[in-house]
Amino acid sequence: MATIIGGLTTSHIPAVGNAIARGQKDDDYWKPFFDGYPPIHAWLEKHKPDVAINIYNDHGLGFFLDQMPTFAIGAAHEYINEDEGWGIPVLPPFPGDAKLSWHIIEGMVEDEFDITSCQELAVDHGFTVPMQLFWPGLGDNPDMPRAIPISANTVQHPIPTLKRALDFGKSLGRAIRSYPEDIKVVVLGTGGLSHQLDGERAGFINKEFDQMCMEKIVTDPEELTKISRHELVRQAGAQGTEFLMWMMMRGALGDKVRPLHQNYHIPVSNTGAGTMMLECIE
Ligand code: DHB
Ligand code: FE
Repeated sequence: MATIIGGLTTSHIPAVGNAIARGQKDDDYWKPFFDGYPPIHAWLEKHKPDVAINIYNDHGLGFFLDQMPTFAIGAAHEYINEDEGWGIPVLPPFPGDAKLSWHIIEGMVEDEFDITSCQELAVDHGFTVPMQLFWPGLGDNPDMPRAIPISANTVQHPIPTLKRALDFGKSLGRAIRSYPEDIKVVVLGTGGLSHQLDGERAGFINKEFDQMCMEKIVTDPEELTKISRHELVRQAGAQGTEFLMWMMMRGALGDKVRPLHQNYHIPVSNTGAGTMMLECIE
């Protein structure tokens, strides 16, 4: 049967993609951020997951405001990337696992989650930057797993509640664990933490709230479901709603997790950047 070995979180800031492309990881500005990843590389090298479930939010490349699925799951053999206008070089396609995708979609629909299934999906920086951070070199990295993108709407209100996100993750976890093949799966929750890119509060970051979320997501994610969507926007900024993807990831891991590593650095571009590595406890 499939095993979920753990969950990883990271911000997905486009400027990070540019810093990687320009070889700036050791520059003074970037080092405290990139220093958060080597312990995760070592863990991934040791456990070598076969598949990464990459939970991200599309920012207008795969979907747009005219058609915005609340939850969409990729069911393709590969996922292309395209130019979004951030200056990041376009990356080669990411290999998928359509068989596992359909198993997950079947299981979750049976579980009464209404999923948009995508047999074609272009993946944006929300998906690609975390893949680059966790598997440097991507296709040249022998350990890069097959990937399944899961996109949540954090952009156009009404967005899902934090409770729905956590429940989605629990159902996702059940679906993955019922897959008959002996594969190892890692679940990524990307985006966040606090940030607001435009409007009166542009540049807003809330360190205390971010740190509370990083603590509670380990010890008591249910407590975080009491935060309303309006409160989330107030406390984390308009784009801090991306914390929803962290909750989806956390739900898939089960009741208890072992926190192995974390890093928090502000500001990275406009964002409170949080990185976590959580291992599943059998
Ligand atoms: C930034 C952060 C994001 O999450 C994003 O999607 C785009 C830009 C930023 O901080 O620059
Ligand atoms: Fe974003």
